Amino acid sequence: MSDHVSIVEVGPRDGLQNEAQTVSVETKTALIEKLVAAGLKTVEAGAFVSPKWVPQMASSDAVLARIDRRQGVSYPVLTPNMKGYEGARAVQADTVAVFGAASESFSRKNINASIEESLERFRPVTEAAKADGVRVRGYVSCVLGCPYEGKVALADVARVVEALYAMGCYEISLGDTIGVGTARETRAMIRAVAGVVPVDALAGHFHDTYGQAVANVYAALEEGVRVFDSSVSGLGGCPYAPGASGNAATEDIVYMLEGSGFDTGVDLDALVEISLWISGALGRRPGSKATLARSARSISTARP
Ligand code: HMG
Ligand code: MG
Repeated sequence: MSDHVSIVEVGPRDGLQNEAQTVSVETKTALIEKLVAAGLKTVEAGAFVSPKWVPQMASSDAVLARIDRRQGVSYPVLTPNMKGYEGARAVQADTVAVFGAASESFSRKNINASIEESLERFRPVTEAAKADGVRVRGYVSCVLGCPYEGKVALADVARVVEALYAMGCYEISLGDTIGVGTARETRAMIRAVAGVVPVDALAGHFHDTYGQAVANVYAALEEGVRVFDSSVSGLGGCPYAPGASGNAATEDIVYMLEGSGFDTGVDLDALVEISLWISGALGRRPGSKATLARSARSISTARP
């Protein structure tokens, strides 16, 4: 049996949060449902954050209320504090995510709190979620670099990962928020973090600013990580990470994984269709090499 790798599709949240044009509730809902139909079992569906800070996510409650939820699929949403958690609960979110950072400056810019303050805000969220039977995922941003501070010490990454795990997060997603890391740095970072929490509680979340996301996924795979976040068509960026590009494209990751002997349970052809559809809806060229290769009539789509 081949080794299974789980993909956490973050396109509807990370992919759209920085979009300047308003994306309708209908489009967001259709995007989530299409991704689930393509075989994705975890689709991050929105964020319960301040609409003044991230206007594009203001419709997350309407999206969550509208999606036709499938059994066996989870639809996590971001919840930076209790207000966010209450919003997520009101629409029966099954999984919430708290999001911290390994860099002080990024933490303050992104969520208006120091790292310590942020952990204090997450604590009641994790406690309430535990009491309600809601799963909590944790994110740590800037694990391979910060847009404001540059290099980030591995000890700082490990400290925040450990704190989130101790709070009860079932999985910690390690974010190369600005997509500056390389395979060697990824490997060192995973080793440092796997020294404080089990490697099977880790996920990789690589933005593709320097075109390193697929290589970084592979490096993390070699270190034993089996969960990766990605966004269809490589959509994405963070409003508080200037210059950062989208996430690793789900199509590219699925192509690499399946071609390397891993099983993802995701239908690549269906993903390519979704990528073309959402790119059309947003009026841009797909950000996935696999989608461009599969959809170019002049290029053979057959694998060698
Ligand atoms: P704040 O201003 O410090 O919060 O923001 P506050 O508690 O002082 O409240 C101020 C106002 O915000 C009040 O409203 C609150 O009600 C409201 P007012 O009285 O002024 O009308 N408020 C909220 N409204 C809706 N939902 C809430 C909420 N909380 C307070 N949950 C806060 C703190 C965290 C809310 C703010 O900084 C914020 O929303 N930041 C947005 C952060 C964000 O979404 N960033 C992008 C996602 S993170 C990311 O992309 C990285 C990731 O992909 C991993 C990676 O790549 O590394 C995850
Ligand atoms: Mg991100």
